[in-house]
Amino acid sequence: MPPALGGSGFRILTSLLLLAAPATLDAAKTPAPPACGKPQRLSRVVGGEDSADAEWPWVVSIQRNGTHHCAGSLLTSRWAVTAAHCFKGNLHKPSQFSVLLGAWQLGNPGQRSQTVGVAWVQPHPVYSWRGVSRADIALVRLEHSVQFSERILPVCLPDSSVHLPRSTDCWIAGWGSVRDGVPLPQPQTLQKLKVPIIDSELCSRLYWQGAGQGVITEDMLCAGYMEGERDACLGDSGGPLMCQVGGTWLLAGIISWGEGCAERNRPGVYISLAAHRSWVQRIVQGVQLRGHSQGSGPTARPGRVPGTARQRRR
Ligand SMILES: *[C@@H]1O[C@H](CO)[C@@H](O)[C@H](O)[C@H]1NC(C)=O
Repeated sequence: MPPALGGSGFRILTSLLLLAAPATLDAAKTPAPPACGKPQRLSRVVGGEDSADAEWPWVVSIQRNGTHHCAGSLLTSRWAVTAAHCFKGNLHKPSQFSVLLGAWQLGNPGQRSQTVGVAWVQPHPVYSWRGVSRADIALVRLEHSVQFSERILPVCLPDSSVHLPRSTDCWIAGWGSVRDGVPLPQPQTLQKLKVPIIDSELCSRLYWQGAGQGVITEDMLCAGYMEGERDACLGDSGGPLMCQVGGTWLLAGIISWGEGCAERNRPGVYISLAAHRSWVQRIVQGVQLRGHSQGSGPTARPGRVPGTARQRRR
């Protein structure tokens, strides 16, 4: 039951259209995109884990045959980013997939949500489809541009000024299971959870495989709670790990894997966007970067080993 677009929401939308108008005159085909990482509705949820409507307007549901499969994040009007493992065995079947945008409650997506087909999926070339792997990231090209609105907005990638020391509070969001084996109940409201960044060395030790082999690669980030209890789970894969820098939300990571969900000493593992920023920039024209030097503006274009992919376990 998304609340009706109120007066203030309408004004925001109107000013957005006015802002876009001059650019449209200059270049009818490329209106300036809205600023990344800035929700337009500033409501807050206290003491719950339901997100507010339009609180995370870049979070999308990647659907397989019309059913929620993974989450993702919108980067531009034509591209979303998610986890590569979401397409395991189905990389060449984009017609089975679609992307649902602007839906806060999956059980009640509302008239202002949009569903767009997937044109193609570009997994990172280094990703290995067997088990847990580095570079568990894929770009999803939409069949057509989506229209931005207060419920459909792009997220920013972190620029090179961004460092996330341990204990930085970031957030994850998703429609995945609330516990191992327990799907999110109707109306499937997008859930959010605050997760502190965990020191990489500590995380590496926790997930050490033995025989001189670590599973935590240099492009992985760990976040969550050593005591367990709170974590991402089955169906959250591909969704965002978001950190706020200078009032702007940055996509710090992609929900990738973990051992079980919310088990003690098994924090969630995320693929770092800082590690894959240049690969994304090479493919996604117009992706916006932000960091501590705000006002950089839209950038020119310039498994689990014994663990389980969050696709299955979350
Ligand atoms: C999706 O639909 C295709 C074509 O109808 C079918 O072959 C495939 O098994 C379906 N997959 C799932 C997960 O439902």
